[in-house]
Amino acid sequence: MPGRVAGKVALVTGGASGIGRATALTFAREGAKLIIADMNEEGGQQTVHMITEKGGEAIFVRTDVSQAVEVQALISQAVKTYGRLDCAHNNAGISGRVRALTAEYPEERWQQVIAVNLTGVWLCMKFELAQMLQQGGGAMVNTASAAGLVGTRGASAYVASKHGVVGLTKTAALEYAQQGIRVNCVCPGAIQTPMTDRAWSDPERRARVIAIEPVGRIGKPEEVAEAVVWLCSDAASFVTGHAMSIDGGLVAQ
Ligand code: NAI
Repeated sequence: MPGRVAGKVALVTGGASGIGRATALTFAREGAKLIIADMNEEGGQQTVHMITEKGGEAIFVRTDVSQAVEVQALISQAVKTYGRLDCAHNNAGISGRVRALTAEYPEERWQQVIAVNLTGVWLCMKFELAQMLQQGGGAMVNTASAAGLVGTRGASAYVASKHGVVGLTKTAALEYAQQGIRVNCVCPGAIQTPMTDRAWSDPERRARVIAIEPVGRIGKPEEVAEAVVWLCSDAASFVTGHAMSIDGGLVAQ
């Protein structure tokens, strides 16, 4: 299949839904073979089906990205199936669902958000980097957020986890720049996905979100996916350590 990532092997975590599913479908459209990782088996299998029914190749591996043994098994399965790993979108994440001031933020929820959004990304990178070093290169894109660049009241755990992802991205980019591995992250603004459908079910809240978006609308998962696939493609061969805003101008204000 011709395309921007033709013949490459790409892993997407959180690929059962939202941004991850859109990225998986875009990778497949552009010729990559996919490994979809998620805790949500049903959604993950649906993504696989959406790819294979169009003639693409994909497998699903049920994975909790916050568990090292599961992430290690995921990368082993990817390599066993396709022989290598060229691209990775470390995207699985949770919002925390709680809005509370920093001093009142529930500790259990804090640990959960950090475990998935930050430790989960690091664990994926750790095992992906080992494989990419062994095969002589690769490219990865982590999903941070506009909340990885600026603060948001009531979301200390989420904001801390996403600032962590930006820092981790820059550090790994420097560490592996001479070994053929590029590491970037995307910082989406408000994107319409099941995560935000839950958070903005109140129309007034949704209207407030749109009101602060300079382009005057919420973004689509496909608009993030296009950037992720480009960053993973050879067209972005001189781009590493970059935190790319995909936010309709949100953090430019
Ligand atoms: P979503 O809820 O539609 O998708 C997230 C996926 O991650 C789900 O399929 C879920 O099952 C999976 N997941 C959650 N915990 C997991 C774990 N421990 N192991 C494996 N998979 C797990 O949400 P959405 O919006 O697509 O979010 C994707 C990423 O984008 C997240 O990291 C989120 O923080 C980030 N993001 C989303 C924005 C938005 O406005 N939707 C804005 C900025 C960042």
